[in-house]
Amino acid sequence: MNLTLNVWRQANADAPGRMERYDARDVSPDMSFLEMLDVVNEKLVEAGQEPIAFDHDCREGICGMCGVMINGVAHGPVPGTATCQLHMRNFEDGASITIEPWRSRAFPVVKDLVVNRSAFDRIIAAGGFITAPTGGARDANSILVAKTDADEAMDAAACIGCGACVAACPNGSASLFTAAKISHLGLLPQGQPERYRRAERMVAQMDEEGFGHCTLYGECQEACPKAISIDTIARMNRDYLVASATGKEEKVLGGTG
Ligand code: SF4
Ligand code: FES
Repeated sequence: MNLTLNVWRQANADAPGRMERYDARDVSPDMSFLEMLDVVNEKLVEAGQEPIAFDHDCREGICGMCGVMINGVAHGPVPGTATCQLHMRNFEDGASITIEPWRSRAFPVVKDLVVNRSAFDRIIAAGGFITAPTGGARDANSILVAKTDADEAMDAAACIGCGACVAACPNGSASLFTAAKISHLGLLPQGQPERYRRAERMVAQMDEEGFGHCTLYGECQEACPKAISIDTIARMNRDYLVASATGKEEKVLGGTG
């Protein structure tokens, strides 16, 4: 396959960016999108030019490091697929592909296609954990969890923190990410003691980081490589409202869902 790439190049956070055009020749349809960029970069390095910076780590769809806008779509044209799992056979030979970094005020560009997603780390640090002393590992059967709660918690825990939801949202909202983290802990018994405080603190941090508000466009769940449902946002809003209504951060209320 031969492709034309239009790639966002930006030397650093303060430098002005621009689109640059590159020819990608002899691309195998079996290459992943990142492997295709590797080949382009090898050619750039051979020619003494600066390679295109992009984020990646596991290259198997589980770490959340990769992610670019491909022809204006977060993670590209295949639903439920992270950029590293996207294969070039999904593009036509001769195609022109526009590649840009996530666009969000809360994700400043570091270089080229790399953005700073440390705002997500600070949302987690605000409450995305359990501090209750849970003791040693118990026999699993001693803490019963309803099958529906276990399934929903597992689905929410699939979030890899890639940030595609933010990039896809017209408001630049981080609600799907934050709601996924709140849900996977708040649906399980161990997450109950801090459930409402967690929602209150994580939502407050999300706002402080400059993410936009959720107005239920639903673009986030369409872009999400792990198909996280916007139902999690409803759960986050309910928990946040309970925390606000009671005014007691540490209040412990039973039940899940
Ligand atoms: S909710 Fe989906 S799109 Fe958003 S960070 Fe998690 S995995 Fe990525
Ligand atoms: S590189 Fe880890 S999810 Fe893509």
